[in-house]
Amino acid sequence: MQYGNAVAPSEQVSADARKAVEDALWAPSVHNTQPWRFGLRGARITLSADTDRRLDVADPDGREMLISCGAALYNLRSSLRALGYTPRVRLLPDPDRPHLLADVDLEPGERPDQQTLREHAQIRRRRTHRGGFRPDPVPAGVLAAIRHDAEREGARLVEAVDADVKGALAALTTAAEHVQQRTGSHAAEIARWAPSPRTSRTDGVQERAYPQQVPQTTPHFPARDFARGHGWGAPSSQDVGTALAGLTLLLVTGGDAPADWLRTGQAMQRVLLRATERDLAAAFHTQALEVPELRRFISAHFCNGAHPQMLLRLGVPHGEELGTVRRPVEEVIEET
Ligand SMILES: Cc1cc2nc3c(=O)[nH]c(=O)nc-3n(C[C@H](O)[C@H](O)[C@H](O)COP(=O)(O)O)c2cc1C
Repeated sequence: MQYGNAVAPSEQVSADARKAVEDALWAPSVHNTQPWRFGLRGARITLSADTDRRLDVADPDGREMLISCGAALYNLRSSLRALGYTPRVRLLPDPDRPHLLADVDLEPGERPDQQTLREHAQIRRRRTHRGGFRPDPVPAGVLAAIRHDAEREGARLVEAVDADVKGALAALTTAAEHVQQRTGSHAAEIARWAPSPRTSRTDGVQERAYPQQVPQTTPHFPARDFARGHGWGAPSSQDVGTALAGLTLLLVTGGDAPADWLRTGQAMQRVLLRATERDLAAAFHTQALEVPELRRFISAHFCNGAHPQMLLRLGVPHGEELGTVRRPVEEVIEET
C-alpha cells in the first residue's frame, strides 16, 4: 500500500499482492523443489501445494513439502506487513481441498514499523548455509529471541546443549545419509533435484549452492550428496581447520498433522529471518527425519515425545556467498 498516491485501490492491492508473492518465492524448500502455487483474486491470495513437486521417496506424506510452503507463507505475511497490510490467514480453509493450504486476505493495516521493514529486508538476503561456522558465539539474546519467535508461530525450538546429544544427532544424520546414498530410489531422487552444472533449470540444488569441500566439524553433520562423486560445488574460501558445528537446534511441534507442518514452516522462516538480520546463518540436516524409525527415536529420546520437524545448525558463517535460484513468478502465480 503506498500512502498518499493516486493509484486506484483495487489496482494497488493487486500490484501489492504480486509483490508479496515475489517475496514468498524466496523461502527455503526441501531440495529447492519450490512446491507452491499462488492464486490472486482481488484482495485474496491463496497458497496451494504443488504435489507434482513432492519428494515421493523422502517425503511421501508431504511433511517437508508443507514445511516449505509454510516458510513461503511466512514470507508472504512479512511482505504484506511491510507493504502496510494486515494479512488475515486461514490455514487449510477447505477440508475437501487438502492441497489448498491457506487463504490470505489483505486488510488495510498499520504503517510498517522499523522492525517490520528490517525483517522484510532479510527475505532475499537469507541463504542456506552448507559448511562449518566461525568460532564467534551466537549471542544469548538472539537465542532467546528466536525461541520466542518459534513459539509465537506454534512450534518450539529445542537446543541440543549436551555434547552427547549433539553427537548422537550427528551420528543419526550420518546413518541416514549412509542409507539414503545406498538406496537406489533415494539416490535417484537426489539426482533429479541436483542438476549438473550447466543446467538452465531454475529449481533444484545447483552447483553454486554447496561447497566443493565441506570442512569437518566436531561433531560432524554430513551434507547431502548433491555432487554425487562428480567433484561439483563452489570453491570454498573457508579455513577448513577452524570450522565449528554451531548450535544444534530441533524445531518441534506437539502434533504431527498438516497444520503443524505449516506452522513449523512459518516458525522456521521467522527464526531464519531474525538470524539473518543478526548476520547468522543456518544449515539444515533433515536426513534422519526422513527415516521413520530414526525420527521416532529422536522424538522419544531427545524431544520428550514431541514431533521433531527440522534439524538445524546455527552460527556465524565464514562470509562466502553461496548462490541459489528460483522459478520466475509467472510459473507459480495464477490471476483470476
Ligand atoms: C523442509 C526442508 C528440508 C531441508 N533439508 C535440507 C538438508 O537436509 N540439507 C541441505 O543442505 N539443505 C536442506 N534444505 C535447504 C534447501 O535445500 C534450500 O532451502 C534450497 O536449496 C533453496 O536454497 P536457499 O535456502 O539458499 O534459498 C531444506 C529445506 C527445507 C525447507
